[in-house]
Amino acid sequence: MTVARKTIPPGAKVGVGVLGAGAWAEFAHLPGYKRDPRCTLVAIADPIRERAELFAEKFGIPHVCSSAEQLIARPDVDLVDVCTPSATHFDLSWAALEAGKHVLCEKPVAYDYKETLRAAALARARGVKTKLGFTFRYSPAMQYMKELIATGYVGTPFIFNGYEQNSQWLDPQNPLRQVDHEADQSVIQVSSLEGYGAPIMDLCHLFMGSRFTEVVGTMRNFIPERVVRATGTMMRMNIDDGDIFIGNFESGAFGSIQTSFVTVGNYPGLEARVYGSKGALICRLVEEEGVCESLKGATADQVEFRDIAVPERFYPPGGSKEESWRSLFYANLVSSFISEILSDDLENEGNFEDGAHVQELINAVELSCGERRWVNIPLAP
Ligand SMILES: NC(=O)c1ccc[n+]([C@@H]2O[C@H](COP(=O)([O-])OP(=O)(O)OC[C@H]3O[C@@H](n4cnc5c(N)ncnc54)[C@H](O)[C@@H]3O)[C@@H](O)[C@H]2O)c1
Repeated sequence: MTVARKTIPPGAKVGVGVLGAGAWAEFAHLPGYKRDPRCTLVAIADPIRERAELFAEKFGIPHVCSSAEQLIARPDVDLVDVCTPSATHFDLSWAALEAGKHVLCEKPVAYDYKETLRAAALARARGVKTKLGFTFRYSPAMQYMKELIATGYVGTPFIFNGYEQNSQWLDPQNPLRQVDHEADQSVIQVSSLEGYGAPIMDLCHLFMGSRFTEVVGTMRNFIPERVVRATGTMMRMNIDDGDIFIGNFESGAFGSIQTSFVTVGNYPGLEARVYGSKGALICRLVEEEGVCESLKGATADQVEFRDIAVPERFYPPGGSKEESWRSLFYANLVSSFISEILSDDLENEGNFEDGAHVQELINAVELSCGERRWVNIPLAP
């Protein structure tokens, strides 16, 4: 049964229900809600009830629900946060949207972009807001870079280069999660392209103001055997642990994106470069020497790249570039979503539709790699 969106009375707090009491909820989502006085955590659910109880205690959440359905049905939950394993995202988001709730979902909503578009359409029909966990678009330095591009710092963007890479799974003993260990191992499975590629693709769309119309790419499996969390054993896993693609944008610009989780370097490991007719900007999100983000710029008259200070207004209260990137960026993400829920005048950015465009790009690169050819976007239905 579908239910209309509930109106939040002026001055009332947005009630938040969180699905999933895992690592990412603990270090990013839950601290984000605690930091925004315009919302209140009301319930949490996890099939491993002890984890939900532990987090309820740690974050002062009054209700632990026995199931996702029970949490979604609560009238005091206005916003459902889906922070569960990726394969469960679509069904949980769909159920929450049908119940008339705003939804923040970790990426991806679904592995097929058409499913994500369906969920976006349902949200529009219900009049509710959606947001993807595109963490890195909310980094203060990336937000300032977006403003600088919009106000003409680079002029007309010509070239985008993006990276998300670190050494998270360089050691094959580090147990892999979110993989299908029963999949046909003769075919390479998308892994880093989706898990690491999605956020940098999102930033690429944001900065270039345009999307790719054609791409060609390749994926590689560098480390053939790994320990898998679901089985606890070392097994052959033909997953993409490195990938690269190039493409042309509708605007006439072009770009490249490379991702990998077996490349030496620290978390989170993003770099976005935009080169234009008047200037260039490079933003790095890598924890190094106690800071998690940096922004550099150069112009046609001053070609040496120099540090650009990010204004205070881009940081959440009490936040700084010395804070952990997990809580810093998520505080901005949560704040952005709460503002959008409370005001229909604000653009609902980083929503399921944006997620669908990113997913279509992932699906296109996968097709290009599988068929060893250039692929046009939009994809044929
Ligand atoms: N945006 C980012 O930068 C970023 C970073 C890390 C993780 N993630 C994403 O966040 C999500 C969670 O990751 P994690 O590392 O916390 O995983 P995790 O495995 O540590 O935790 C997931 C939790 O969800 C619970 N769960 C499973 N099914 C559920 C259901 N139907 N209802 C409620 N709870 C359920 C599990 O029991 C588990 O406790 C994943 O999709 C992951 O890809 C995003």
